[in-house]
Amino acid sequence: MIGGLQACTTVAPSWLVEDVRHYLTQTPRQLPARALYDDLSSALFDAICWLPWYPVTRAECRLLDTHGGAILDAAGGPNRLVELGCGNGDKLRRLLNAGRATPCAPGRWVAQIDLIDVSASALAAGQATLTTLSGLRVDTHRHPYEEGLLEVSEARSDVDRLCVAFLGSSIGNFDPPGMRALLDTIRRAVRPLDGLLLGVDLVKPLPELMAAYDDPPGLTAAFNKNLLVRLNRELGATFDIGGFAHRAVWNVVESRMEIHLVSFRRQRVEVPGADLSIEFRAGEYIWTESSYKFRVDDVERRLQESGFEPVRRWINDEGQFLLVVALAQ
Ligand code: AVJ
Repeated sequence: MIGGLQACTTVAPSWLVEDVRHYLTQTPRQLPARALYDDLSSALFDAICWLPWYPVTRAECRLLDTHGGAILDAAGGPNRLVELGCGNGDKLRRLLNAGRATPCAPGRWVAQIDLIDVSASALAAGQATLTTLSGLRVDTHRHPYEEGLLEVSEARSDVDRLCVAFLGSSIGNFDPPGMRALLDTIRRAVRPLDGLLLGVDLVKPLPELMAAYDDPPGLTAAFNKNLLVRLNRELGATFDIGGFAHRAVWNVVESRMEIHLVSFRRQRVEVPGADLSIEFRAGEYIWTESSYKFRVDDVERRLQESGFEPVRRWINDEGQFLLVVALAQ
């Protein structure tokens, strides 16, 4: 995707400026996961999905390939699929291919796709992947989830039956209040009997989790450090990329992986695009992403709390990953 890389923006979107001002000045310093995703890190994330140490994507894709028809059926036969954080579009392609091949698929066909992502290259890749499937209209929405959902809910017609797909365990980026707020936002954007297809990564043994977020070839480290490259490019920041180390930590109390960027030494960094000048102590870190790991009953309870009734679930044989379809009440 050389075209995509050349298209790397040099100007930060306004939400990124606000995120940097608000989160980078907290203790501990942090940034929300959405700040990670520019064109290069979207490509790096695609590469992470191929790593033998990162089972999430493989497990989910197998489930989509195998159960696509039953998934669309459980979701009530949607004619319109909305994907939050579409990435390269491969997962919806698998879902739709499996759905078309399965006799239990409902009488209604998916005719329209709405892709929501903050990464321009992800949207371009997603659109390219999905327009190869015949009879599909693909619209893209380059926004954070909330704004994208608003746009879609305004564009829908009365007869549309929606299914919102939120895959890849991206919901794991949100802390419990954030997850509640996002599920509430999705619920407000849809109508009763619309579907939600949620993919979540389940709790697994610690060595497996550590290897998934601190892989030996260092792709996750590059993915993480690229955040500093991005802040330098888009906000004119002066981060010394080599002055920070990637670190993965399992937070057992919160049931989440955290990835950090740890400052090797005391150093000052200017971030003119956000009017900040930051002094890092040696060992001080930026908490750049959380990846919550779930238990099945926990996920289903949270869905219910936000007005979604779980109707069917699929878990892979190794017990790594859960796909659940819920209907808006
Ligand atoms: C795309 C948020 C699901 O948390 O596993 C992978 C991102 N970060 N390796 C995850 C990620 C480091 C991924 N999600």
